[in-house]
Amino acid sequence: MSAIYSLRIKTPADLEELRENFRKRASGYRHTIYICGGAGCISSHSDDVVQALKKAMALRGLAQEIRLVSTGCIGLCAQGPCMIVDPEGVFYGNLTPEKVRMIVDRHLIGGRIVKECCYYDDASKEYIPHTKDLPFFNKQVKIALRNVGRIDFGSIEDYIGHDGYFALAKVLTDWGRDKTIEEVTASGLRGRGGAGFPTGVKWKSGHDQPGDQKYIICNADEGDPGAFMDRSILEGDPHSVIEHRRLLHRREQGLRLCPRGVSPGH
Ligand code: FES
Repeated sequence: MSAIYSLRIKTPADLEELRENFRKRASGYRHTIYICGGAGCISSHSDDVVQALKKAMALRGLAQEIRLVSTGCIGLCAQGPCMIVDPEGVFYGNLTPEKVRMIVDRHLIGGRIVKECCYYDDASKEYIPHTKDLPFFNKQVKIALRNVGRIDFGSIEDYIGHDGYFALAKVLTDWGRDKTIEEVTASGLRGRGGAGFPTGVKWKSGHDQPGDQKYIICNADEGDPGAFMDRSILEGDPHSVIEHRRLLHRREQGLRLCPRGVSPGH
């Protein structure tokens, strides 16, 4: 899908139009494949799988009918490389170039789910094709990670298509600083670190400090060993971090994002 980086969004109506255009184009595809580009899957050679998938789709003339989306961590890293095929919501794991060629022929062209490439449940001794039925996913309600694994992390269009930047538009055009802080305080939103510090209190403290020059640190420190939750958001949904930083930033100043605690490779 085409990039829009040269467009300037001046009003909420512009944003609305971009969202509707994106959704219209996205819904025009016969299938959408969300292929995981998270660190775990990359270390399981997902690049080879992506190349094989692109090649198989091109050879069969499917490139215009199938939307291929490179996402952040889908969540089930032990099954990587993995992908989800919509609209059915089928989860395919432990992928290889041979398996994706088979999925292209049998699922994307033939319309039949390739069960032997789906998740195998040791408890029931059955393959479980649909993501919503997987024991790992079916009790989860994703909030902070709602977009991770479901959007193209490199596309601002995709983020806008998932309601991104609408909070920023509201703050800039309607609420202003004081009402924003009031609303965030009233919402009870808290930090994701161990202290669960109230976000509204933090924002008000920053707002009330004297001086023109203020700094916002994006603390992406991975305090919990092996959790990688902050890195997952930065990798899989970076625009949500940028939008949040911009909410706190004065309109007339430039924005520099300096994540703390993330290795230079990210
Ligand atoms: S990195 Fe692919 S599922 Fe986690």
